[in-house]
Amino acid sequence: MKLINEPPQLRALLSFCSTLLLLNLVHVSAEDPYRFFDWTITYGDIYPLGVKQQGILINGQFPGPEIYSVTNDNLVINVHNHLPEPFLLSWNGVQQRRNSYQDGVYGTTCPIPPGKNFTYNLQVKDQIGSFFYFPSLAFHKAAGGFGAIKILSRPRIPVPFPEPAADFSLLIGDWYQINHKKLKAVLDHGHRLPSPQAVLINGRANGTTLAFEQGKTYRIRVSNVGLQNTLNFRIQGHTMKLVEVEGTHTVQTTYSSIDVHVGQSYSVLVTADQAPKDYYIVASTRFTNRVLTSTGILHYSNSQQSVSGPIPGGPTTQIDWSLEQARSIRTNLTASGPRPNPQGSYHYGLINISRTIKLESSAAQVNNKQRYAINSFLSHQLTLL
Ligand SMILES: *[C@@H]1O[C@H](CO)[C@@H](O)[C@H](O)[C@H]1NC(C)=O
Ligand SMILES: *[C@@H]1O[C@H](CO)[C@@H](O)[C@H](O)[C@H]1NC(C)=O
Ligand SMILES: *[C@@H]1O[C@H](CO)[C@@H](O)[C@H](O)[C@H]1NC(C)=O
Ligand SMILES: *[C@@H]1O[C@H](CO)[C@@H](O)[C@H](O)[C@H]1NC(C)=O
Repeated sequence: MKLINEPPQLRALLSFCSTLLLLNLVHVSAEDPYRFFDWTITYGDIYPLGVKQQGILINGQFPGPEIYSVTNDNLVINVHNHLPEPFLLSWNGVQQRRNSYQDGVYGTTCPIPPGKNFTYNLQVKDQIGSFFYFPSLAFHKAAGGFGAIKILSRPRIPVPFPEPAADFSLLIGDWYQINHKKLKAVLDHGHRLPSPQAVLINGRANGTTLAFEQGKTYRIRVSNVGLQNTLNFRIQGHTMKLVEVEGTHTVQTTYSSIDVHVGQSYSVLVTADQAPKDYYIVASTRFTNRVLTSTGILHYSNSQQSVSGPIPGGPTTQIDWSLEQARSIRTNLTASGPRPNPQGSYHYGLINISRTIKLESSAAQVNNKQRYAINSFLSHQLTLL
């Protein structure tokens, strides 16, 4: 731009405009990245237990596609509801800051009418970790529509463990062959849910395979996407180092098995340091008289033997075991979180407690329907989860 012969006012104006233009460019380039998703929700045939049943598919997939993101990314998720009834997705563990209407639970977000679409605009602001999404209406969760959400740390933020060779998501959960509408009717008629028929790992009763290379360390993110059962997760011949629970880096403790309650997500590191063969990955029900088991396969690339030996057992009805494990999990206060500052720098321990709130869950009959409550407070949303 030539400013030699223009009057000073015009020169000033032009330079002001180019500064604005520059600021604008700077602003655009500094904006957090966007990730776009276009999802179509349909009913479709699935065969997780070998027999045909009706499932909820996202872009034809069961479970739904994984959302891969990095701290502060903007997620734009256009959801087309092709079900003949309203549909709604919720983002388990994702904080909706000043954005609660994107949370996707009935009463906060309007359901997507049949044949219509809605675009969720989320930002995973100041978050890291392992989460999942699920349908929050009409017991749809019992038919699918769930998937994993990963939020990676930004490249310059230190992560308190070496970069894993690969990063897997495993969605584990109890499963019913009974159609979700029938299951909903069971609750609506005042009864409790029956026992599930099976446990699934990534939509399969048995056979989900993870490929490992000898000597390398992998991250496995395990989320319980089921309806009611706590599951114990373990891997034959291997221990697991817990590193993250729903967005918080933990003190790195090694476990031989981990209880994952409904709705929880855990990240563990597993090293392929055993003899080159295939090993069972196991998820089994806890606190049930009849233990249901699902297996997957941890396959070494140089494996010389398929899975063999007894499927390793885990705890079954022991409640104390689970409580003790939960109590053993601690935040690593000196590790970074979404920002480089240590997770302990907020000094939670120094905040004076002015009020203590105890939360207690209970089950009750309301108008002859089976309902669940927290502190005797019945929430419409809670009954739908
Ligand atoms: C999956 O494997 C377990 C353990 O062998 C078995 O108990 C269960 O019946 C199998 N499930 C199906 C659906 O085949
Ligand atoms: C519905 O999807 C179309 C494109 O497929 C998009 O242009 C429109 O903004 C979406 N509407 C809503 C409400 O998200
Ligand atoms: C906690 O995180 C710090 C920082 O990365 C690390 O040096 C330390 O080993 C971790 N401590 C435990 C007990 O995991
Ligand atoms: C907590 O209370 C103590 C004693 O009254 C006071 O000295 C301290 O500043 C308080 N801490 C905070 C974070 O308010």
